[in-house]
Amino acid sequence: MKPVPSSSAVSLSHVQIRLSVWPSLPFYPLFRNPERMLKVRAPATSANLGSGFDVFGVALDRPADIITVSQAEHTTIEVRGAGSQFIPEDPDSNVVGAVANALDAPAHIKIDKGVRPSSGLGSSAASSAGAALALNTLYERGLTRHELVPIAAEGEAVVSGDAHSDNVAPALLGGFTVARGDSVTAIEADIPLVACLPEIAVSTRDARRVIPDSTSMENLIHTVASAATLTAGMARDDPALVGKGMDERIVTPARANLITGYESVKEAAFMAGATGVTVSGAGPAIIAACPTATRRQVAGAMVDAFEQADVAARAYQTRISAGATVYECE
Ligand code: HSE
Repeated sequence: MKPVPSSSAVSLSHVQIRLSVWPSLPFYPLFRNPERMLKVRAPATSANLGSGFDVFGVALDRPADIITVSQAEHTTIEVRGAGSQFIPEDPDSNVVGAVANALDAPAHIKIDKGVRPSSGLGSSAASSAGAALALNTLYERGLTRHELVPIAAEGEAVVSGDAHSDNVAPALLGGFTVARGDSVTAIEADIPLVACLPEIAVSTRDARRVIPDSTSMENLIHTVASAATLTAGMARDDPALVGKGMDERIVTPARANLITGYESVKEAAFMAGATGVTVSGAGPAIIAACPTATRRQVAGAMVDAFEQADVAARAYQTRISAGATVYECE
């Protein structure tokens, strides 16, 4: 399997980001054989980052889904890997079925799940974004990664009832992304992170029900201050600023109640050197920013704290990464 070559810059709606070796254009003129099979590695993502509810997202270098596609008359789906027993293979109920419909690109689609469903690590987004990129390439639809974001978000609507793009945007574009409804801005960023995933499930639908309908002006000001601080930290690759900017008082406390052990895991992460800790996406994963030097200790401390709360957990020592990558199968 070899990576399909990529170009060196990403053109965004409002800004030209730093030159990057990350893939930016998803279509290549070399796919003409209907027997051709393509593979895409689509990364886990963490949305919200505390202060950027439904707006911020980052791509993580691990875990990831692997999506394999080949042309077919009708879409069929096979799912294996982490949590696959909970994922329907009926194209009408699976996120990648919605993506194949939106692109008018019927295919046999194999999903090897590395990102467990209901984890808070963008499981459905990894599959949606991976399928969107793979099918766009396979059928030479010629859409840019930016144009694929709303198509992949249609897949998100299948599972959460809402086509939000804060996970699919980083899964496709990589880096740190800001989804504003009418546009997505992405910047390359390099921040070490720990994503600690307990063996409990929280559905996005349930986690959205607990969010308060309104808040105080004081909380609003605090959120804006945190979000601006976090964005500056991303631009400077500064884990201290990013961690400070994760602090948020409206959505996160409501969701923390759904995660057994949240407060003790957060405290343990800070004691071990984390600069910021918050719920990843809709949870139950908890994400911590930290300097590289303390990442291993932070990961161990979070797992130990979950265990003390009688919850088994695993920690991914990860960092902000590129978006989905296309491979051609030999
Ligand atoms: N922004 C979404 C939420 C991400 O927090 O509900 C989860 O898919």
